[in-house]
Amino acid sequence: MSPGEITSEPTVDPDAPLTWSTGAMTAAGFAVVCAEVTSRERPSVVECGSGFSTLKLAELVQQRGGRLVSLEHDETWATRVRSNLAAAGLAETAQIMLAPLEPHPLARDGLPWYAEHPLRFLPRRIDLLLVDGPPAFEPETELSRYPALPALAERLALDAVVVLDDIDRRGELRVLEAWERECDFRFEIQPAERIAVGRRS
Ligand SMILES: C[S@@+](CC[C@H](N)C(=O)[O-])C[C@H]1O[C@@H](n2cnc3c(N)ncnc32)[C@H](O)[C@@H]1O
Repeated sequence: MSPGEITSEPTVDPDAPLTWSTGAMTAAGFAVVCAEVTSRERPSVVECGSGFSTLKLAELVQQRGGRLVSLEHDETWATRVRSNLAAAGLAETAQIMLAPLEPHPLARDGLPWYAEHPLRFLPRRIDLLLVDGPPAFEPETELSRYPALPALAERLALDAVVVLDDIDRRGELRVLEAWERECDFRFEIQPAERIAVGRRS
């Protein structure tokens, strides 16, 4: 997301329906994620940064008998996404894991990442990792999403797919460069979908 794309602060009304705001992934990018999920028997999906994507992805994951865990740093936003999941009957399938942003040993530029403790409760095997948080739209926070791959690599299945959103930004391109240099993943940039899709090389 870019400055100004999120048009309002997270609402205090936890029951307000989530909509496809401009802070969400593009529909085309989301379609790529859905195709990856449907190619799995019982998909185990982890998302960094929750929102409308969580709600829609949870529907698909539920149909496939899988599980979705979404890391969320903002308590008010977490409450709203949880409330929407519950209203849609998806609370058993999708879990919003509140993880405040804290200093992280893998972080770049001294930026915070998701707190260590909640990460221990993530699935031991992840088939698809969707990286769309923490927020990284300010120049000084552009490397905020870097820790996702090195921090979760050991949980990723051998044939796991990693999707990084907002690939039209300089920060996400720098994150990709670092991931490819340091991890055994290679990424295909899909500009129209505004994502990069990575698999083990
Ligand atoms: C890029 S957003 C995540 C969007 C989500 N993956 C989607 O596609 O719907 C990253 C963070 O921004 C916050 N956020 C998401 N949507 C928001 C909105 N409409 N208004 C305010 N904050 C939002 C949440 O804290 C979230 O973790």
